[in-house]
Amino acid sequence: MDEELSVRPAAPGDFTAICDLLATVFHEEVFPEVEAEVYETERSLVADDGGTVVGHADAFTRELTVPGAVVPAAHVSGVGVLPTHRRRGILTRLMHRQLRDIAEAGREPIAVLWASETKIYPRFGYGPACSRSGMSIMNREVRLPAPPATPSGRLRMGDPKDLLADIGKVYDQLRPGKVGWSTRDDRWWRFVLSDLKEKRDGATPLRAVVHEGPDGPTGYALWRVKDEWTAHGPSSEVMVREVAADDPETYQALWRFLLGVDLTRTVSYRLAALDEPLQYLVDEPRRLGLTVSDGLWIRLVDLPAALAARRYAADVDVVFEVTDPILPANAGRWRLTGGPDGATCTRTTDPADVACSVTDLGAAYLGGTSLTVLAAAGRVRQLTGNDPAAAFAWHRLPTPTEIF
Ligand SMILES: CC(C)(COP(=O)(O)OP(=O)(O)OC[C@H]1O[C@@H](n2cnc3c(N)ncnc32)[C@H](O)[C@@H]1OP(=O)(O)O)[C@@H](O)C(=O)NCCC(=O)NCCS
Repeated sequence: MDEELSVRPAAPGDFTAICDLLATVFHEEVFPEVEAEVYETERSLVADDGGTVVGHADAFTRELTVPGAVVPAAHVSGVGVLPTHRRRGILTRLMHRQLRDIAEAGREPIAVLWASETKIYPRFGYGPACSRSGMSIMNREVRLPAPPATPSGRLRMGDPKDLLADIGKVYDQLRPGKVGWSTRDDRWWRFVLSDLKEKRDGATPLRAVVHEGPDGPTGYALWRVKDEWTAHGPSSEVMVREVAADDPETYQALWRFLLGVDLTRTVSYRLAALDEPLQYLVDEPRRLGLTVSDGLWIRLVDLPAALAARRYAADVDVVFEVTDPILPANAGRWRLTGGPDGATCTRTTDPADVACSVTDLGAAYLGGTSLTVLAAAGRVRQLTGNDPAAAFAWHRLPTPTEIF
């Protein structure tokens, strides 16, 4: 490891160099005025090689919905190392330092991130906790059930910024029950709805539609359209960003709207849930063009606090034997006792029922990755007949709403 190189907290003056670094490593234009909306200087770490910023990682202070609870979660982002300095252990130093900082601060029992490559983060204790479904829907070839004869609500379209009061209200009403959703304060809404022309890839500005019931908004969708004409005529694509609905009628009304936009032949949606209800609504589910990929990766930073914070689908009383080479305070034997109404997690010397790494517990934490499946893969070892897998599952699969 280079003597010259240090990993240090970022100073305000590093921001431009950090934006330049991120533009380089992600091969895209970075807009500092947009990044600045949510950037937290005090949570930003840089690798400094003789005065040059050559690596970076930061975190956002937000909360994440987990099964039955909302917990503070370090939202890790902006991770990159310059091509001139890669594979010399700089990311490793940044990740270790960041995890130790989060653990020492003691506010956030978990960390969460999106991975550019799935190989990068398991070694740092992050497990794949929340898959997502991609959809590329042949919208002319699927039918939804007919709308009710007298719909209880109506749709209103507009600029998302003008409809933000309604959109934000729906989001905040739904969020506590939606595993995988993150808090959005005003800064985050400005970031999520920032709609620079340079980032639209030729599509329209972002549009919003709100479903209004008799007692107020019950759902919304965000989307844009990429215009295309071929020898067959109009062939545009509706690019769905978010769909949030409080009840089946709203959900159906929003999807009927999105699938029916004139002059379009495809509806794409990158962040659908793996158990997206649309699959059970259309007459030709195969035409949804479903794909599966990873979404949120979870790291248990304070293991007992994290396991005690979530709720469990069934009563559980189990002893885990956990390995965690980076944060040794998590390692060893833990008794988790809990159920649908709460949980405790304490150190124990009792014999273990399950042996696993902190990465595996992170994977299982949101109820989206089964401990049984991890055991079938040989990652988790079930040592006794006391199997906690059913308690760790949840009634809906987790789903992310945005890539941060
Ligand atoms: C990913 C990235 C930050 C890695 O930085 P780095 O300083 O080269 O990483 P390290 O040297 O600490 O490598 C740690 C280990 O992870 C592996 N690794 C790191 N990046 C990897 C990648 N993209 N794909 C596969 N393996 C990777 C290394 O091979 C190394 O493993 P080893 O010790 O068994 O050889 C850097 O390559 C980068 O900036 N990539 C582009 C941007 C990006 O993808 N950022 C992550 C966003 S989530």
